[in-house]
Amino acid sequence: MLVRLLYASRTVPALNPEELHAILRRSQAENPAAGITGVLCYSDGIFLQVLEGGRSAVNRLYNRIVADPRHTDVELLRYEEIGERRFAGWSMGQVNMARLNPSLLLRYSATAALDPFSVSGEVSMALFEELVATASVMGQS
Ligand SMILES: Cc1cc2nc3c(=O)[nH]c(=O)nc-3n(C[C@H](O)[C@H](O)[C@H](O)COP(=O)(O)O)c2cc1C
Repeated sequence: MLVRLLYASRTVPALNPEELHAILRRSQAENPAAGITGVLCYSDGIFLQVLEGGRSAVNRLYNRIVADPRHTDVELLRYEEIGERRFAGWSMGQVNMARLNPSLLLRYSATAALDPFSVSGEVSMALFEELVATASVMGQS
């Protein structure tokens, strides 16, 4: 039973680039054994992450992530049972939003800023699909 989960959160003000790298390293090290794949976006104090995998594994990880003190306001945007993965190529891919073409963000929201708290989960998921389609996701699987 595969599921896909999408959430957004706000980073604590003190989050620095080393901590962001530590989160990605940890994710890329841990996720393969748990059968988790996904992508993490970071932009201006906001995280947007999609997690895919077995239902129990995704729920276990999500509960750990919610309790992580490096971010707050964790908001579940979407949760669905799926027949196949969309992000199978990444144990945890990353998107450098600073290097994105602003028009990509403008296509999905009122401004060229990432603001998953003010758009539907469907719109945020469409953005992720666009990021994959435009090869904007980095990181080994
Ligand atoms: C935004 C964000 C995304 C994270 N993504 C993952 C992930 O994909 N996989 C993972 O193992 N840990 C991830 N973590 C780290 C977990 O929250 C947690 O620190 C880690 O799993 C270790 O948990 P433990 O100390 O309870 O064993 C993430 C943390 C944050 C803040």
